Amino acid sequence: MSIAEKFASMEYGPAPEDSKEATTWLARHSHRLQHFIGGGWQAPAAGEYFDTLDPSNGEKLASVAQGSAADVDAAVKAARAAASGWRVLTPHARARHLYAIARLVQKHSRLLAVLETMDNGKPIRESRDIDIPLVARHFYHHAGWAQLLDQEFPEYVPCGVVGQIIPWNFPLLMLAWKIAPALATGNTVVLKPAEFTSLTALVFAEICQEAGLPAGVVNIVTGDGSTGEALVKHPDVDKIAFTGSTEVGRAIRAATATSHKRLSLELGGKSPFIVFEDADLDSTVEGLVDGIWFNQGQVCCAGSRLLMQESIAEALISKIQDRMSTLRIGAPLDKAIDIGAIVAKVQLDRIRKLVEQGVADGATCWQPQVTLPAHGFYYPPTLLSNVHPTSMVAQQEIFGPVLAAMTFRTPAEAVELANNTVYGLAACVWSESINVALHVAAQLKAGVVWVNCTNLFDASCGFGGYRESGYGREGGREGLLEYMELAWFKSAPTLPAQKAPALPEAESKEDLSASAIGVPDIAPNIDRTVKLYIGGKQVRPDSGYSMEVRAADGRLLGEAPLGNRKDIRNAVEAARKAASWTKATAHNRAQVLYYCAENLSQRHDEIAHRLAAVVGEKQAAAEVDLSIERIFSYAAWTDKFDGAVHNPPFRNVAIAMNEAIGTVGVICPREAPLLGFLSLVLPALAVGNTVIAVPSEAYPLITGDLYQLFDTSDLPGGALNIVTGYTSQLLKTLAEHDDVDAIWCFGDEASAAAAKAMSVGNLKQVWTNEGRAIDWFNPKLAEGRWFLEHATQVKNIWVPYGE
Ligand code: NAI
Repeated sequence: MSIAEKFASMEYGPAPEDSKEATTWLARHSHRLQHFIGGGWQAPAAGEYFDTLDPSNGEKLASVAQGSAADVDAAVKAARAAASGWRVLTPHARARHLYAIARLVQKHSRLLAVLETMDNGKPIRESRDIDIPLVARHFYHHAGWAQLLDQEFPEYVPCGVVGQIIPWNFPLLMLAWKIAPALATGNTVVLKPAEFTSLTALVFAEICQEAGLPAGVVNIVTGDGSTGEALVKHPDVDKIAFTGSTEVGRAIRAATATSHKRLSLELGGKSPFIVFEDADLDSTVEGLVDGIWFNQGQVCCAGSRLLMQESIAEALISKIQDRMSTLRIGAPLDKAIDIGAIVAKVQLDRIRKLVEQGVADGATCWQPQVTLPAHGFYYPPTLLSNVHPTSMVAQQEIFGPVLAAMTFRTPAEAVELANNTVYGLAACVWSESINVALHVAAQLKAGVVWVNCTNLFDASCGFGGYRESGYGREGGREGLLEYMELAWFKSAPTLPAQKAPALPEAESKEDLSASAIGVPDIAPNIDRTVKLYIGGKQVRPDSGYSMEVRAADGRLLGEAPLGNRKDIRNAVEAARKAASWTKATAHNRAQVLYYCAENLSQRHDEIAHRLAAVVGEKQAAAEVDLSIERIFSYAAWTDKFDGAVHNPPFRNVAIAMNEAIGTVGVICPREAPLLGFLSLVLPALAVGNTVIAVPSEAYPLITGDLYQLFDTSDLPGGALNIVTGYTSQLLKTLAEHDDVDAIWCFGDEASAAAAKAMSVGNLKQVWTNEGRAIDWFNPKLAEGRWFLEHATQVKNIWVPYGE
């Protein structure tokens, strides 16, 4: 037999990893695991336990405590009790704790990897070589941040007690992504693992004990969704960090709307894997194996939508099928296995159902000839081709080893198809042309783009989504900010509640002109009548109604239009079309803003004079003076709010770009009609967003001055749209509008809650003042990075180098 023949006929023998350490650990706990609260084990108050299974054979591994509201309460109390002690430790002392945890994760890495595989079903190769090393890396990296905290974030304080809820696909890694930054920034934690995979979190609890972490700093409460819900609703939790399905993310968003709990959400995805005709197809296929068959495809950022340039589609499909035929599926503890078990029966059923649905919708299903193990939950690698871009399997997260393939002709079509989902977590671009790859990467709506590589993660690079894939980042500098608050903001006083306005009874379409409703355009006793500003034009409101604007002494100053739903819709449409602003260079945007400052300076006295009737002469003059300065500040920032280049420990650079969020709806503060408006609108515009602003209800007439200002400063039509009216009414339309990407609401506490609750539908990013007073006259508080950070989202583009 020739060597080539021998090579071809070689078969794999079984190569099982020894499970002894894990079974000993389970036996030591008598196969019955309790909560870890206040530094020790605690039985569930209601005495309930549930079974956790090994999905590779369906056998029971252990019973795990089912957390009740009482258990959650005990854990939150323990975390609260530990909070002040943990927070006042020196950064160096906290760094030592994180470092000790990192060392112990490495020391116990075999136990952790084996137990993870037994509990989750993922191949040992992955838990041993990817999950656990990344867990250790995360704690090392964040030990570093803990050390540098005071130097790098001197103005910040921790959120306090943080509730963290994680999924089952990367149990210990998700725990590390959550706990490491929380501890590094001085928070204490209550973490709830997913019900299918609680075990490694409980080994981690022991690691915390062994590392000498003060009692109560980390608490683990196990249980199902109801335990998670109790944690979300607990009144003494300051922040919730969640990773899981978009559906539950939405429920959490609704449940936290009326509180000031900070929230970060890492949700689902339907990430495109785009292959251009000049891609190295063999590398692409290997990338795809990692992209969709890593962890049985149970990966939020799995490259589950294959978009192939038409000319290479056939060749690529054939190569993929060949490669699929060599994937080995079976017992995950076997070191030579590529595809392990699906986490649970319910997930397996879900995958089956979705694939059946795909086939019923017209897709062609191809699976290699494989024999699945007789017991346990397995699903073969699956390729669905001829998938219609709008079909369910192209739009919905399958969360299994299922690839849906489609074709495109041009780069523009690839981008359109890629962005054609509600998600925006990750994307892959394969092309040997760096120009094409980076040009496409820049246009993708995704928090992570891998160029000629896939599924790379590192603690130094933020990870998180656009749109319904959630918001907030994990990892990197931006990930730390999710766990901290500005000290001054946290102690700022609360604004008084605003009186609800008397709204007109109905919105009519007919009465368009002011004179038709008895308000002459220029009434002799009325100073001014302004219009709305939409798409660069002054327009009358759809309703035909207007609101009276009165001076501080009650004198009638003028009329401002009462904008309604239709006006907001028109404004959003205009904003979406204002691509020239988004695409303009930062230098160009700076020029427009400087010009604005120049024009405001020329009209200083006249604007101050009018504003004085409402806010008094002193404030009016200060508002105009400071507004000129603020415009200068943001003109300056425009080409200086740069991203970063990360050096993850692979042969890659990760380019972290600060990208505009898109279209931002801004409810401006009541108290400083000019300065408050500009303090919010300018940072949004500076980084390339388009804006729909609702000016101060106290003095909406400022709109007249503002549109003249922006008009004469060459701001392209539609970049800024101003709709006057009652904020409570306009906020609702803005918050519910699917084409508005973010809402900033700076009013009283009730408006902040309303903004959050009303925008649950498309999970848009909401930023509010939580009803707190902001001193708009203090540049240290009212301008700069804090604002710019909210105006942008970070996209990490990973680019490999080397041969
Ligand atoms: P899930 O979103 O229900 O579970 C994630 C975590 O949230 C678990 O710890 C769970 O106990 C908890 N949870 C459930 N309901 C809750 C509630 N009302 N309040 C607070 N916490 C709650 O995900 P599930 O059911 O395990 O998987 C269903 C689908 O979700 C998957 O097929 C997949 O499509 C998607 N998923 C996405 C993940 C991602 O990383 N993007 C991770 C896990 C699931």
